[in-house]
Amino acid sequence: MVQESSPFSGAKGLGKGRRRVPLAAVLPYTAVMDVEALKRAASARALDFVLPGMRLGLGTGSTARHFVDLLGERVAAGLDIIAVPTSEATRIQAKGLGIKLTTLEETPALDLTVDGADEVSPDLTLIKGGGGALLREKIVATASARMIVIVDESKYVPVLGHFPLPIEIAPFGAAATHRAVDAAIAAAGCSGPASLRQAKDEQTFVTDGGHWILDAHLRVIPDPRELATRLSAVPGVMEHGLFIGNAQTVILAAADGVRLIGRR
Ligand code: 5RP
Repeated sequence: MVQESSPFSGAKGLGKGRRRVPLAAVLPYTAVMDVEALKRAASARALDFVLPGMRLGLGTGSTARHFVDLLGERVAAGLDIIAVPTSEATRIQAKGLGIKLTTLEETPALDLTVDGADEVSPDLTLIKGGGGALLREKIVATASARMIVIVDESKYVPVLGHFPLPIEIAPFGAAATHRAVDAAIAAAGCSGPASLRQAKDEQTFVTDGGHWILDAHLRVIPDPRELATRLSAVPGVMEHGLFIGNAQTVILAAADGVRLIGRR
């Protein structure tokens, strides 16, 4: 891991390899503000990889939102790029900033996707989907020559699984799919309940694609590839939040600087 710079001061140290906990639950208000600064710093570093004429994938979530804001500033200053958003929320944000948008139908091959993640392991396997956009995020990342992940260091973990694994399912036959998902989880050597995600209004959360999400509370995923294979084999599973081999570069922002893991 290469430390590049130390642009921060005052943020609480988030020790490398620590398990992720909801930061807002444990940090005072000023530290939560600093987490936003970390997300913005990772986003700013990712901008260095954006070149004129690029076809970009735009991620979803609070970290990706910073990146899209900064990209919007560059576009306003004359940068010519075109982008595919990974969610309706990102599409609305990007459109509002004057970023030229396209679709994978019009532009099926992208140069670079920049997105956040819920967890990152040292081999650059990710858990994504905390924001519910995992299906579109994986389609867009897979259509991209390169994926750069932007995270604050609390998301860098030795073993994936503390963050509940999102699994997007079709509403049709959801109870049967849920049973099959439970069986797949057990067969992959994991344990823990998968619960149907609720929206803030206590209705079932519905993705942009009209699907539902099971969040699997596994604590530890000993073999992500095995679990991914088993989940993908379940009819009714539209996609799972394990991103294996998608990311080439992770930009980690910590109190003592911004670091790159993987391809520079
Ligand atoms: C959305 C995602 C997000 O990238 C992930 O949840 C991280 O979000 P945030 O930057 O808000 O922590 O996968 O589906």
